[in-house]
Amino acid sequence: MPKPLGLKILGTGHYVPERVLNNQYFIDRLDTTDEWIRERTGILERRIAAPHESSATMATAAARAALADAGLTPHDIDLIIVATITPECYFPSTACFVQESLGMRPTPSFDLLAACSGFIYALVTAAHMLQSGVYRRILVIGAETMTRITDYEDRATCILFGDGAAAVVLEKCDDPNGPSLLYHQICAEGSGPTVLTVPAGGARLPASLMTVNERLHYIKMAGREVYKVAVKRNIELVDETLRATGIRPEDLAIVIPHQSNLRIIESARERLGLPQERFFTNIQKYGNTSAASIPLGLDECLKTGRVGRGDLVMLIAFGAGYTWASALLRI
Ligand code: UT7
Repeated sequence: MPKPLGLKILGTGHYVPERVLNNQYFIDRLDTTDEWIRERTGILERRIAAPHESSATMATAAARAALADAGLTPHDIDLIIVATITPECYFPSTACFVQESLGMRPTPSFDLLAACSGFIYALVTAAHMLQSGVYRRILVIGAETMTRITDYEDRATCILFGDGAAAVVLEKCDDPNGPSLLYHQICAEGSGPTVLTVPAGGARLPASLMTVNERLHYIKMAGREVYKVAVKRNIELVDETLRATGIRPEDLAIVIPHQSNLRIIESARERLGLPQERFFTNIQKYGNTSAASIPLGLDECLKTGRVGRGDLVMLIAFGAGYTWASALLRI
């Protein structure tokens, strides 16, 4: 079992675009119904970025909010990690755009790609880097403009995704009884690339007239197959995290799962036997925002007082790759 890593959240913040796409938007354009979308996914609405917005602009806004919450300035940050599958461009990294937009001195900045598990991967990476003593404060951001890779002609996927960003400012904590990353697990099994992917635009299948005509720059997902693995992995993540730490479900202040589908979340909640109010959901209003969904939840839980100092919070995620991850935080 990994040893606890002293980790304090100094501040959190988020940004979501103003424009809301409700289910009616899809009903007007596709062969779908409000009942189908609500019952199969739990989603009522999602946000869509304005033309001038992108992953870096939203990440920057979220970062500014987290820094303000922490009472810090960009100059207090030693390193930036942006978890995203919708970067500004092939290169440079979205993190470099954020670093520049924040007006920071030269600062190590990089992106991390682990799809919907990206934020937990980034959190764990930051926690280990803080332990080294080289970095004092790290900005971890989950930022996605999912609507730019969503095929609005594919009714099975376009209803799912939304845009947004959220950020946390982290610092090492040396008090053994203080805030901590008590447990973490990150894993990948490269068996899923064909079931959930954006097939074209990379080195494997560069952009061409054919890839554009065949709509291969959009998300392709074998939903049912991914669904089955997601349910299984989420339950395993919960079980393993509890077993490894000896924590009982009733000791948890809240569980913040990646928001992929309300039914997937419910299956993990039922496994824990926790009431709905102790299992965070915001999929109803934001849809699936991939790497942004967990930090959006964390920010909301901290800001609304659902979580406070000393509380135990479990984060779980499963996504493309496949990747999956869990973290148990003492706030
Ligand atoms: O974020 C990381 C990973 N992502 C996930 O975990 C997502 C996992 N997958 C899912 O959430 C679900 O599989 C979906 C929400 C994508 C689909 O729900 P489902 O209950 O698995 O439906 P399905 O794909 O088995 O499709 C059932 C039927 C099909 O029609 P037939 O073949 O039974 O005639 C679909 O064509 O529903 C149809 N369908 C729709 N009907 C109305 C698919 N999309 C729609 C739609 N409206 N929007």
